[in-house]
Parts: sequence; C-alpha cells; structure tokens
Amino acid sequence: MDNGSKPFHLSQERRVIVIDDDRDFLESLSRLLELEGYAVRKASNKTDAWYVLDAFPAEVALIDIRLGQGSGLTLLTELRNRFPKMACIMMTAYASVPTVIEALLGEAYDYLCKPFIKEDLVATLDRCFEHTWLTREREQAISALEQRNEELVQINAGLHQVVGSMQELSTCSTLQQLCTVLLNDVVRTSKADGGTIYLRQDDQLILKDSLNTDDAPAALSLPLTEENLFSKAMATRLPEVISDLQRQKGPASKSWSQYAKHSFLVFPLVGDHEDPIGVIAVHSEQGSPFTLQECEFGRILISLGCEAIRVLNALENVAASEERLRKIVDNSPSAILLKDYEGRYLMVNKRFEEWHGRQASDTVGKTSSDIFAKPIARIYNAQDKDVLAGGKVINEEVSIPFADGTLHSLLMTKFPVLDTKGNPTGIGSISTDITDRRRVEEQLRQAQKLEALGLLTGGIAHDFNNLLAVILGNLSLVREERECSGLIEELIDDAHASARSGAELTERLLAFGRQQELHPRVTDVSTFVRNNSRLLERTVGGEIEIVTEFGKDLWNAEVDQSQLETSLLNLAINAGHAMPDGGRLTIKVSNFEVARSQSQPKDSFARNQYVLLSVRDNGIGMSPEVADRAVQPFFTTKEAGHGNGLGLSMVYGFVKQSGGHMEIVSHVDKGTTIKLYLPTAGELDRQPVAIPQTRSESINRNERILVVEDKPAVRKLATTILTRLGYRVFEASDGFNALRLLANEQGVDLLFTDVVLPGGMCGVELAQRARALQPDLNVLYTSGYADQVFARKDVAEDDVMLVKKPFTKEDLECAVRAALEEGTSQS
Ligand SMILES: Nc1ncnc2c1ncn2[C@@H]1O[C@H](COP(=O)(O)OP(=O)(O)OP(=O)(O)O)[C@@H](O)[C@H]1O
Ligand SMILES: [Mg+2]
Repeated sequence: MDNGSKPFHLSQERRVIVIDDDRDFLESLSRLLELEGYAVRKASNKTDAWYVLDAFPAEVALIDIRLGQGSGLTLLTELRNRFPKMACIMMTAYASVPTVIEALLGEAYDYLCKPFIKEDLVATLDRCFEHTWLTREREQAISALEQRNEELVQINAGLHQVVGSMQELSTCSTLQQLCTVLLNDVVRTSKADGGTIYLRQDDQLILKDSLNTDDAPAALSLPLTEENLFSKAMATRLPEVISDLQRQKGPASKSWSQYAKHSFLVFPLVGDHEDPIGVIAVHSEQGSPFTLQECEFGRILISLGCEAIRVLNALENVAASEERLRKIVDNSPSAILLKDYEGRYLMVNKRFEEWHGRQASDTVGKTSSDIFAKPIARIYNAQDKDVLAGGKVINEEVSIPFADGTLHSLLMTKFPVLDTKGNPTGIGSISTDITDRRRVEEQLRQAQKLEALGLLTGGIAHDFNNLLAVILGNLSLVREERECSGLIEELIDDAHASARSGAELTERLLAFGRQQELHPRVTDVSTFVRNNSRLLERTVGGEIEIVTEFGKDLWNAEVDQSQLETSLLNLAINAGHAMPDGGRLTIKVSNFEVARSQSQPKDSFARNQYVLLSVRDNGIGMSPEVADRAVQPFFTTKEAGHGNGLGLSMVYGFVKQSGGHMEIVSHVDKGTTIKLYLPTAGELDRQPVAIPQTRSESINRNERILVVEDKPAVRKLATTILTRLGYRVFEASDGFNALRLLANEQGVDLLFTDVVLPGGMCGVELAQRARALQPDLNVLYTSGYADQVFARKDVAEDDVMLVKKPFTKEDLECAVRAALEEGTSQS
C-alpha cells in the first residue's frame, strides 16, 4: 500500500493489540507488526487483553477466533461494548463461511485466514486504521457541528430576546419605565443575578432602578472617584467585566462589599456626542459567568437602550416645547387662531374661547360663517381672501361684539401660513383687544384738552383779577376820598357789587384752571357729608330723597373743605335740575384702591388710595356728547339765566388741583353718577398758608414798605392804599429795580411783592435775594392765583404770607399788619 497517498495518518501512532493463545504465533506476528512500524501489545487471553487495554488505547485488535477455552467471538462482543471505537479483525484458521458471518455479525471490521501473508495483513490493517481514523474524524466533525448548532440556537434565542427588548423599549413612554425594562433585559440576557441602572442628572448619577441588589447608593457625585465600580467604564465608554470584585483592589467600594464574591459586568450608557449619560451594572455570583456572547448581547441591548433614551429625550423635549408653546398661546392676552386654506378653524386659543364664548372643540372644523353673524363673517372672510390672494400680512382694526354683547375694538394681524415650498396652506391670526387702550387714549385726550383749556382760562382769570383789583381798590378809595351823594353812593355800590361778582366768576374760572388757593385739611368725608346734609336738603328741595351710604373703616381725605362743600352743592344742584319731578340723590363715601391692572391714563390715578365720594341721581342723564363736554367751562344745556356752565368745571378743577380725579358715568333717562376720587390724608403737596383775616390794633404807620408790582395800575393802587394808611412807600416795577432800591435805601420793614414778575426774577427769588441784603426783612406776597412757585423754589409753607388778588383796602391793611407783626414777634 502506498503510504504517501494517506498522509493524514502517517504521523500518527498506529496502536494494535494482538490477542492469540498460540504464543509462538503471537510472538512472530507481534514482531512482524513492530517491524512494519505498528505499536504492538500482546495478550494471550481475555484477562491479559483487559489488563493491556487499561493502559494502551489500541485502535485495532487482532483477535484469534479460537482463544483457548474462550471464544474470540465472545471477546469481540465484549470489546466492542467496552471500546466501541476500536476496530476488531478476526483471525481464523478455518475460513468457514458460518464463522466469518458470525464474526462480521459480531461487528468485526474484517477477518484474516491463517496462515496469511504479510502484505494481506498490512493491507487489511491499514484499511482498518484508515476506517478508524475516518470514523473518528467524522465523529469529531459531527460533534463540532452539534456544538456550533447549539451555539447558533443560543444566539438565535439571544437575538429573539433582543428583538423582544427592542419592541418593549420602543413602547416605553417614560425614562423610568425605559430604565426598568432595559435593566431587566440586560440582567436576563447576561444571565446575571441582579443589577442597577443609573442616569446622569446634572453632576450626579441617580439610581433609576435596581434588581436583586440591596443598598445600591441612591446617587453618586460626578466625577466618580477612581475606586468607584463604574469609573473605568464611564471613562473609557467601553463595557468592563470585573470577574471577582474581591480581587479588585480599586472598585471594591464599601457599597458593594456584600457582593465581594460576585462578578460584575458594567456597561456605560452614552449620549449623542459619546458623552456618558448613565451606567448599568449587572452582577453574578458565579466565578466567571459572563461569556463573550453575553457581553455582546448586553452591548447590543445597551446601544438599543441608549437609542431609546435619546428618542425619548427628544420626544420629551418636543413635548415640553409644545407644552411651553401651548401655554404661551393659551396665556396670551391676544386671541390666536389658525385656519386651513378653506377657512376652517384648525386651532383657537383660550382667549378666543373666552371672547366668543365657545369651546375650541365647538370651533375646530367650522368656518367663520358657521360661527359669527353675517356682517362679521363677511369681514373675516374678506380678510382671509386678501391674505391668501396677496400672500401678505394685514393689520386691521375691527369692531367685534363679544359673547357678552359688548362691542370691542380689536387690532387684528392676519398672515398666510406657508408650506415648505412657500405656498399658502392656511391663515394665522392674532387679535389684541385695544378697547381699553382706545378708551384711555380718549380720556387722556379729554384730560389734555381740559388742561389746555384750564391754562387758558387761568391766564385770562389772572389778568382779569388784576383789573378787578384796580376797580375794587379804586372804588373804595373813591368812596373814602369824597363825600358821596346818594346817587353816586348807589352807583359806586353797584359797580362794587358787579366787580365782586366778577371776582367770584374769576374765582370759579381759577378753580377750573386749578389755580385757586386751597387750604387742604385732613377731612373725614362721611362726617363732612353728614354735617352738610341739612344744607343739601335745602338746596335740592323736598321732592328729592337724599340717601347716604358710608363704607366701613373709611380713610381720611386731605382737601380744602370749603371747596369740597361748594363742589358737593354744585353736584347736588345739578342732580336737582336733572330730576325736576323728584327722585333720589344718593351720596356715597367709600375707600378706593387702584387695581394694579387698571388701565387708566397716567395722570388719572397718580396715587394708589383715594376716598371716593360719589353723587348719584336717577334723573334725565346725559347723552355721550353732553357728558363729553359737561366739564368744559361755560358748557351748559340749561336755558339762559339758569346756569352758566361753570359748576362741573369748578368741581373738576378743584378735584384735580387737590391731586384727585373725577369721573362722570351717565346714561340718558337712567341717571348720572359723578365720582370724586379725593386724595387720602398725608399725600398732598405743600400749599401756601392763608393770611388770618384779623385786624390788628397796634399800628405803627411810619414803617417803610417796598411795593414791587409790574402792573402800574395795581402798583399805584397798593401804593395809594398803603400811603393813606400812613406807611412810607417805595415802588419798583421788577425784581432788579427792587434790589437796587433796597441796596440804597436802608431800613425797609416790608417787601410787598407780586409773585409773578417780569424780567426773569420772580417774587420768591426777589425775597430770597432781598433777605440776603437785609436778613430781618418781612415779606408779603400777592398773587392772582396760587402758583406752584413756592414749592418749586423750596420755600417752606410757614415762611409764606400772601394776600390774594383782587384785594380790598381792608384785605391789604390786615395782611400788611400781620406781616409786619409776624416779623416783630419773630425778632
Ligand atoms: N346730574 C346731572 N344730570 C344730567 N346732566 C347734568 C348733570 N350734571 C351736569 N349735567 C350737564 O352738564 C352741564 C354742565 O354742568 P355744570 O354744572 O358745569 O353747568 P350748569 O349746571 O349748566 O351751570 P352752573 O352749574 O354753572 O350753574 C349741564 O348743563 C348739564 O347739561
Ligand atoms: Mg351746575
């Protein structure tokens, strides 16, 4: 046989056992075989054969079919049972067919008939060896295949689990749920006993879940210390197997001491940019339980888990941003809506629901024509058409009734909603309610108009006062100058009375112009109303019932009481006129606090708290046009002689000058309420103090008085009166002349000066500079109206003495005396 054709077993030892009871034959055959290169052992009986085979794994046995007392065939059966892979060749001297059949049935590989030639023997043996080795190789191949098969079954099962986990993970709606699922799946796939999952939150790892793990720390601070079980995996972003925690010097941290004999498999969880977002650690009690395959499946699961976390985070971000947007849209003070190309509502916000009294669910899918009355739907549809056709943004102001029936001005912005190619797919709209703004603007316009009118009126009244001062003063001088006949006396009296009513009229105009002299005092308005109730009854007459309502714990107001009385009377008279057939006049006092949200023109409510005095009648009321103009001076709807239109303007001016606010609420045939918001005590600006109207007895007529007045007639009047009273009088037309005179003329006792002077130096400044020259100088001011000049010049109230224009001789006499005596008493 050509050995070169069978290289696969040339290098291998060929072990043969020869079993024969014929010792000579046994010896010679063994030698022959050894010479042929076989490893040979001999046995002459069954016992020897067992003994030899215990130590010598023969691949082939040469068995004599007749073995002394025993049969070779029996031995064949026993050998096959014990060494099934050993091939047996039977040797027989009787090549009878029945024996051969028996041997082959007994699972002999072949047989040789004695005597046999060497070539037959070697050929039979080689065939037998080849067969044996082929059988063994086939068996090894089958076993390897089976093992591979088993592995594939396991991989298949693992993949099944992974697919199942993937589906499970994709249905998780919260991070917590996802962590629980992921941990369970990783523990199951890696056949671990338990584990933990941590997610990063700011600078901590937070325990999200644990399975069969006691005392896992609830939080770990980042960065992790080197000893931490997770630190390496987190740092390298690679899974780490720790086969025996006990032997790990570093990671055997205290928290895991009870798992000292466990193996750990630690997987880092990584985010979008490979940044560590958490960690999963599973543990097992067995020595080295985690196979490569288990690690691989763990890795796959972890990467699926990380993907699921990313998706969930992204979804949560989208949901949070949607929620934020929804909140902004719903809390917007504007109505926001979207419509599709056909004009059907796709979405409306809360404000829209409130304004139009219909839920979004009732609105979505409908069109403006389904929801609004025809005229309004027509406006909306036309706007929508313009927006879609022109592709432009439109801004329009529209008047729309709300669900409660009130008409509102809306500033509406409509814009096309475009698809990615820029084609319009619908309409967006944002509407802001500007009703309040418009009202406030109107109020402001009205207030500004009144203010301008007030300035004009005040200016005229001021000049008029100078004229009246001269007329009144001169009339009293004329009366003193000469003995008057009855007629002249009468004429002078009439002139005096007319000038007096002129002065009263001027007074009311000054009141409207907010330029009258006020003496605010802390006033309990309810008591004030009570005290005036008789007067009110007399004023409005018996047909009218007067009702008073007073709130609890009322604050005090700080107002000029005599002006308040005049105001109350004016309002009562107006109410009386509005109820010619009788009615009810309700006077109410309450505290009023300005709500923060109240939208009012800035100058309406400069303070937060007011005492509200409201006077309500159920008379004829005013049309909006009349109510609009009622405050203007000389506006009246009354017949000539029944009213000159100064009542409400006086009240308005007084309240405004006091730092308060006035409101008219009136409806035709329903009645009128006039609300006076009076400033609460303690918040008022300083005002000049009035001169006490007392006459002094101690008169030293030789005192020297410097009169400073730019109007020659008034200056002349003052000079004449004072000279007649026996004072030595000097005069100057402005501050500079006055100072020059004071510098030359020593010993002036009193500076009597107009507050308003030409040439840039006012009376107050003059007084200050004059006192610098002559510190003990007394000062008396005169003015046609109370100006803020004292406050502006930072002059203390107590330092100011003032006589109001127009003054009579008596007024001036008193004032001068008081001013001189004030100086005397101070020195
Ligand atoms: N309570 C009221 N009811 C109805 N209309 C009123 C009421 N109060 C005022 N008015 C209207 O406002 C106008 C102006 O009122 P105001 O008090 O300023 O002047 P008057 O009453 O006409 O004249 P005066 O008060 O100077 O005698 C009145 O003419 C009237 O048309
Ligand atoms: Mg009136």
